[in-house]
Amino acid sequence: MLAHLRLDDLHEIVEALAAALDAKSSCMCGHSERVAELSWQLAKTLGLPPAEQARIHIGAHLHDIGKIGVPDSILNKPGKLTEDEFAVIRQHPDIGSHIVGKVKVFRPVVDIVRHHHERYDGKGYPDGLRGTEISLGARIVAVADAFDAMTTLRAYRSVVTCSEAVAEVRRCRGSQFDPDVADALIALAESRKFVSTLCSSVAAAGFVG
Ligand SMILES: [Fe+2]
Ligand SMILES: [Fe+2]
Repeated sequence: MLAHLRLDDLHEIVEALAAALDAKSSCMCGHSERVAELSWQLAKTLGLPPAEQARIHIGAHLHDIGKIGVPDSILNKPGKLTEDEFAVIRQHPDIGSHIVGKVKVFRPVVDIVRHHHERYDGKGYPDGLRGTEISLGARIVAVADAFDAMTTLRAYRSVVTCSEAVAEVRRCRGSQFDPDVADALIALAESRKFVSTLCSSVAAAGFVG
């Protein structure tokens, strides 16, 4: 587990790494922080032990760190990406797992970094794992990541509202997403717990569950 360093110290390290990634791409700004916060809330909603909540939180902070290895011209390209450019972006979980795997204290979160783009139905990447072959941490971060990607502006896509994003998670429940994790996100949305922190712009416009 993550016992060798204090959680505060780990936090500083992962936030510095995430800042390095944010500096590369304006549309990534704050993404890892929001995904870390939502992943932690999902882990809590699912009743996972505190140590596992903390592991998932740290892993979520690092999930996209492999994008450091993706050229800026692709990461920041406005408009549609070509198939070849998508293929380069799809390398980031593999790149990230190698970066994180070099640091002993981060080894417990390699699964999260490597498998956050796996899909519950086995159609994800890089390893095409399905169902419980994917660690629960990675299944949680997959939902949080997709939710944040939908509700914040990206170079290649416009933003959808919080309620539209929840509807999309519901639609992909059991296909792209673990049904239990999808249900946890829906429950969180209905309780409005994350609206203030994660959907502030959308909440300001008046989010209806
Ligand atoms: Fe990613
Ligand atoms: Fe991401």
